[in-house]
Amino acid sequence: MTKILVTGGLGYIGSHTCVALSQSGYTPVVIDNLSNTDIRIKARIESIIGQPLAFQKIDLCDSAALSTYFEQEKDLQGIIHFAALKAVGESVDKPLLYFQNNIEGLINLLTSKSPSLPIIFSSSCTVYGESAQQPLQEDFPFQKAVSPYGSTKQMGEEILQFSAGKNNQGSVIALRYFNPIGAHSSAQIGELPKGIPQNLVPFLTQTVAGKRDKLSVFGHQYPTPDGTCIRDYIHVMDLAEAHVSALERLLNKKNKSPFEVFNIGTGKGCSVLELIHSFEKATGEKVPYTFAPPRPGDVTIAYADTTHAQKVLGWSAKRSIEEALSSAWNWEKQQ
Ligand code: UD1
Repeated sequence: MTKILVTGGLGYIGSHTCVALSQSGYTPVVIDNLSNTDIRIKARIESIIGQPLAFQKIDLCDSAALSTYFEQEKDLQGIIHFAALKAVGESVDKPLLYFQNNIEGLINLLTSKSPSLPIIFSSSCTVYGESAQQPLQEDFPFQKAVSPYGSTKQMGEEILQFSAGKNNQGSVIALRYFNPIGAHSSAQIGELPKGIPQNLVPFLTQTVAGKRDKLSVFGHQYPTPDGTCIRDYIHVMDLAEAHVSALERLLNKKNKSPFEVFNIGTGKGCSVLELIHSFEKATGEKVPYTFAPPRPGDVTIAYADTTHAQKVLGWSAKRSIEEALSSAWNWEKQQ
């Protein structure tokens, strides 16, 4: 039994990663402060994996609780660290909350855990900012962050890059996620946005479900073929499986340096209008939308070069955007 700690394991990507870990023979154990999820997700994960999920409600900013946890859990073999705040707009309004939660949480984790434990870190394509060159490659330099959220991802990577392998600290892999969408095929777990969704797919599915009037397409005069922004939308289960590949690289000590970075996307750019049309094709539902002004802070194009992940991790995304969008719709219908 190889026990892997998943911080934020009841959240959107964390819950799917618990399933992927279990399917690959690992035993996920979870800590989560439940700030952006629901405790009912625990039972849903258990029903998918067919076994109990060890869980403790712990906030990573509570260093005393975290130390006690690690004193009890002596047989962990690795950590996948998701627990963090992730709303770009909220981070602009509450920057200190983001720095405290995401950076203090990370430092507490690093200083409380048994030093040698390897870590997979949730990073984001936001670290690249607006790049003139696409697709984005791992060695492109960081651009100045446009939001405190983005800044916490850049700082998180830097903290890990400087500390990995030093003073007996274990190795780290940072995964730069592109745009995760969709849900598990059982429709038991998925994205649970609090309040009005900020991200495209949850807003779209809530609109089709009648909870919102219309989807606003932010900007239609960008220098792209149809004038709307281009992103790299990846099925959350493909993303979850990338964590297992990265973890196995560290557990098997195959990594070439103590800190490595991989883009996790499909490698395919998709515009907002293309995504809407794919949703309509996949589900047979009509999406009511209207054009609205561009959203401040949005980059025009961001999609991944996934060659590094393919060659080194032996991982690539397998599911289509239609499959991802139908799973998002099935999940929405369960809500
Ligand atoms: C953002 C962050 C990313 C973060 C992710 C998850 C940046 C640059 N990106 O991704 O780091 O991991 O959120 O929170 O900070 N759109 C609409 N209408 C909507 C919503 C979105 O047209 O109602 C458009 C956006 O303009 C964008 C695309 O859909 O072109 C995707 O937006 P979204 O789902 O919010 O993700 P990102 O902004 O790409």
